[in-house]
Amino acid sequence: MDLQTVVYLAQIAGAVCFVLGLHLMNSPATARNGNLLSAGGMVVAASATLLSLAVRTGGVGTIGWVIIVVGFLVGGGLGLYTARNVQMTEMPQLVSLFNAMGGGAAALVAIEDFVRITGAGGAPVSTTVFVVLDVVIGAVTFSGSLVASGKLMGLISGRPIIFPGSRLLTIVLAVVTIAGTALLVLGAGGAVTLDGTVSLVVLGVILVAALVFGVTMVLPIGGADMPVVISLLNAFTGTAVAMAGFVLDNPVLIISGALVGASGGILTKLMADAMNRSILNIMIGGFGGGESAVAGAAGGPGGSVRSIGADDVAIQLAYASSVIVVPGYGLAVAQAQHAVRELAELLEEKGVDVEYAIHPVAGRMPGHMNVLLAEANVPYPQLKEMDEINPEFDRCDVALVIGANDVTNPAARRPGNPVSGMPILNVDHAKSIVVIKRSMGRGYAGIDNELYVNPKTGMLFADAKEGLAQLIAAVKAL
Ligand code: TAP
Repeated sequence: MDLQTVVYLAQIAGAVCFVLGLHLMNSPATARNGNLLSAGGMVVAASATLLSLAVRTGGVGTIGWVIIVVGFLVGGGLGLYTARNVQMTEMPQLVSLFNAMGGGAAALVAIEDFVRITGAGGAPVSTTVFVVLDVVIGAVTFSGSLVASGKLMGLISGRPIIFPGSRLLTIVLAVVTIAGTALLVLGAGGAVTLDGTVSLVVLGVILVAALVFGVTMVLPIGGADMPVVISLLNAFTGTAVAMAGFVLDNPVLIISGALVGASGGILTKLMADAMNRSILNIMIGGFGGGESAVAGAAGGPGGSVRSIGADDVAIQLAYASSVIVVPGYGLAVAQAQHAVRELAELLEEKGVDVEYAIHPVAGRMPGHMNVLLAEANVPYPQLKEMDEINPEFDRCDVALVIGANDVTNPAARRPGNPVSGMPILNVDHAKSIVVIKRSMGRGYAGIDNELYVNPKTGMLFADAKEGLAQLIAAVKAL
């Protein structure tokens, strides 16, 4: 078997690992192994690429190898450092930065290839199409992902940023990009005559237009929608990488790019569905101006808020037969996942049946609550998806809401407010409701939650971790 065949087989093996890894990520119980398998696939694919470089006629040269080794060390080192040190709540902005790197790298590969083929007298239409699409998608993803991550980091305002003429500018940029792409493809087909310099200038114009388009596309989108946008940009990254695979004639890049593109697209659709919005509606913007948004009140029933102490809550919990814990973004912010497991174990020792209600968009990223609670070794069977747990609220003695807000807001059942139509957890059906949060502060949708004025609700005003520590002490003291 010659070395090139070994390289192809290794690339296929890497691709198989990606597919199986994705499949294993279907369940929290196997997700860790799925991740490991995919990482293993990446090692195999990268090794195969290195091998193919080593055996390529003409070779890479000493400087080339130095660049590759330094790139591996710097990129790998930064990846390892950030992955080990990132806070769970900062994961979406990290994913967005990684997207920017993926898109930017794919665009650079295509630019290098375009310069090379232009120098060699041009390329066939098929290659030109992939190269130019790679530049466009990669550049849009690069700048758009940087803006998205800047919004989530608070470096750029989380509110929709719309300036006079911004929509027109976006349309003009899109037209310039499409026209430039068409010109280069026509040039490659011989329908128009373009010399090498003109081709490079046109590509430069396309690149700048696509970079600015990425910025103007993401700026008008509010912070609440950023996870959906990041997922969409992730799909773009995958598509750009697949294009780069065609340019480089590398099957593993094509397969992995297609997998990222398809799974990112499906995830985007699922997230939009879980918020009962269309992707187009999200991209056009306007909803969810971030943590500081001041939207109108939900227009629901007013009423007074009843504050409750930890001792009273402990009695309710300890003498309940069933308790449903409803975790939300605040649990993640407070890093209270270990405390909630400790409280649940104490209650179970007292014979209380404890389950967790997982809303598909609780927190700030898909699977946020699953990952958080899995980190604290909460048994998977206790985590119940929304459709499964919702009927159980009618029989539940106490619903313990910890740092969740929008996903419990009954206003979603009425039209005319920012959460209208979003499926919610039926917390208000429980016999008694306890909410742990720091204040009457709003959630990401920026509206009041009428659950808090429900006569059945007691508010335990505290940071989630501190409130749970008080509850643990109070239950132990009973
Ligand atoms: P939110 O509605 O955002 O509410 C979180 C609540 O946590 C806040 O009201 C805040 O109230 C409280 N909080 C913050 N820090 C806390 C702390 N240290 N201790 C205790 N409480 C704390 O969260 P949710 O119910 O999880 O809903 C998620 C929202 O994000 C939805 O609107 C959803 O559509 C949106 N979203 C999610 C996703 C994904 S994929 N998960 C994607 C896009 C959009 P206080 O300030 O009063 O404490």
